[in-house]
Amino acid sequence: MPRIVPATEPFIHEAAARLRSGGVVVFPTETVYGLGASTFDIAALDSIYQLKGRPANNPLIAHVLGAQQVRALATNWDSRCDQLAARFWPGPLTLVLTKIDSVPDQATAGLKTIAVRAPAHAAARRLLELFGGPISAPSANRSGRVSPTTARHVAADFADVDDLLILDGGPCQVGIESTVLDLTGTLPRILRPGAITADQLRTMLGTIDDQSIVSQSSSPGTSPAHYSPRTPAQLVESSRLQLRLNETRQAMAVLCFEGLHINPPHRAIVMPRSADQYAHKLYSALRQADAFGCAMILIEQPPASSDLWRAVHDRLQRATGSQETL
Ligand code: TXA
Ligand code: MG
Repeated sequence: MPRIVPATEPFIHEAAARLRSGGVVVFPTETVYGLGASTFDIAALDSIYQLKGRPANNPLIAHVLGAQQVRALATNWDSRCDQLAARFWPGPLTLVLTKIDSVPDQATAGLKTIAVRAPAHAAARRLLELFGGPISAPSANRSGRVSPTTARHVAADFADVDDLLILDGGPCQVGIESTVLDLTGTLPRILRPGAITADQLRTMLGTIDDQSIVSQSSSPGTSPAHYSPRTPAQLVESSRLQLRLNETRQAMAVLCFEGLHINPPHRAIVMPRSADQYAHKLYSALRQADAFGCAMILIEQPPASSDLWRAVHDRLQRATGSQETL
C-alpha cells in the first residue's frame, strides 16, 4: 500500500532523504502530481519507468528551483530563457533545451535535449530545496492513464506498490500538465499546450510554432492515446447530446455543462463554464466518470474560444482518442 502523508515539513524531510538514498517519492505540483527521483541517479530513474510502465523512449521533465539549477543540466540557457523564467517561473511552463553530456541518458530517454521546469507548489519547492538538486518526475499515473490531481488518485493507480511515499498537498490548482516549449529549433515550438498559452508566449518571443503536436517521436508523451480513462470516451456536440442520451438505454457517464436533463440510468458530472475551472476539475471528473462503471463516457464539447480551452481540448481529444483523426 502507498503511504499518503501531509506535505508538512517533517514529511518533506523524509521525502528528501528518500531521494538522497536512491528512492522515488510522489509530490504535488500546481499542475498534476509528480513521481520523482534524482536526475543524476540512474537506478532511481529506471524505477520510475518500471513503476509507471512507461515506454523507455518517453523523456522526463527535470524539476528545478530556478534558472541557476538549469546550468547543471542544459547548455543553451539564453536571454529568451531569462525572460521566460522571470515571467512564468515558478509555474506551468516546461522548456526543452540542449542537454549537458553529464546528465544521464535515463533522464532524457536518450535524447540530446532536456525538459526543465520550476514548479510553483510550495511543497514541491521545499522538496527541491531540501534535496538540493534537480528532481526528474513524470506525472504520477500509470502510463497512458489520466494524470493525478489528488494524492488519492496516485494511491489508486499505485495501490499495489508497497510503501510508496505520497506527499499530499491538496488538489492541484491548475489541473492539467504544463505547457512544453521546445527552444532547440529555429522557431520556439509548443509541443504540449497548457496553462501558459501560445498568446502569452508570442507576446514575449514573437513568432512561435503552435501547431499542436499530435504524435511526434521526439515527444512521445504527446501520442494520441495518452491520458485515457478506462471507459471508452467520446466528445459530443452540445446540440446532439440530449438526443444521444434519450436514444440509448445503456448507462452513460456524462461530463456536461449545467442545463441538460440527465435522467437515470445516465449519470452526470456537471463541469464549470470557465476554462481554468474546467481544467482544474477535468482529471478528477474523468476518474469519477470511470468509477461509475458506465458503458461510455460522453463529454459535452466545450467551446474553443481561448488558448486555455484549446489546451483543455487537447486533453479531451487524447482522452477520447479522437485526435488521431484530426
Ligand atoms: O505539469 C507537468 O509537466 C507534470 C508535472 C509533474 O511537472 N509533468 C508531466 O510529466 O506532465 P510527463 O512525463 O507526464 O510529461 C512530460 C512531457 C511528455 O510529453 C514528454 O514527452 C515531454 O514532456 N518531454 C520531456 N522531455 C522532453 C524532451 N527532451 N524533448 C521533448 N519532449 C520532452
Ligand atoms: Mg504524463
